[in-house]
Amino acid sequence: MAVGVFDSGLGGLTVLDALEKRLPQVPFVYLGDNAHAPYGVRTADDIYRLTCAGVERLWDAGCDLVILACNTASAAALKRMQETWIPKDKRVLGVFVPLIEALTERQWGDNSPPREVAVKTVALFATPATVASRAFQRELAFRAVGVDVEAQPCGGVVDAIEAGDEILAEALVKSHVEALLRRMPRPEAAILGCTHYPLMETVFQKALGPDVKVYSQPRLVASATDDYLKRRPEFLGAGTARDYLTTGDPDSVGAHATQFMRRGIRFRAV
Ligand code: DGL
Repeated sequence: MAVGVFDSGLGGLTVLDALEKRLPQVPFVYLGDNAHAPYGVRTADDIYRLTCAGVERLWDAGCDLVILACNTASAAALKRMQETWIPKDKRVLGVFVPLIEALTERQWGDNSPPREVAVKTVALFATPATVASRAFQRELAFRAVGVDVEAQPCGGVVDAIEAGDEILAEALVKSHVEALLRRMPRPEAAILGCTHYPLMETVFQKALGPDVKVYSQPRLVASATDDYLKRRPEFLGAGTARDYLTTGDPDSVGAHATQFMRRGIRFRAV
């Protein structure tokens, strides 16, 4: 009864951690496409091709349901995958919707017309490809009116994390937050719209100040997945074992994963 979790690299481990806490009885198979990270500077076609290849690998590992624990893949590839590629007996879910439902105070499946919500000014931090897709603004517009979104493409942060360079990642986060605050001095909320960014959540919160509510995806995605599996238990796949797979060098990926997640993680090459 395994479920797959896919990301371009290490970021999806933040989601995996929350999933494992919420659903300890489910074996999750993680696949990081570290050989091709970062996705955030690639074209939509490229992201689509790489994401389909990763998802297929997880289907082969006995996972009928795959969580795209990657905003860039969710923004640039998921709609096209759902419309043209995913067979009826498989499911691929993204990470955007649970976040936007939380921001707009909606329950799952509430398709009522967009309405005013409490939050009016939102800072979005994401990869250049996610920002360029405007997928976040599109999903938000289905649910809320009158929300001002200022987006900051955070070039370099994913590369620094993948390279294990926490000092550079921290410096880049601070400069991206400063750049955004120059354009929107008082956001009420901030969205960490890349699953790598929760690894730097305290740096974001400190740079934004204590009055800004930071929305981070892992817990929200874990609770949405729990709800989904209660409604659709048939998508618990045939796989039985927990596994950590990478397209990159397993030793170096394992070392960086251990560094950022503060626990020992070993990867296998796919
Ligand atoms: N964790 C991915 C995301 O959520 C990072 C994308 C990248 O590789 O640039 O967007």
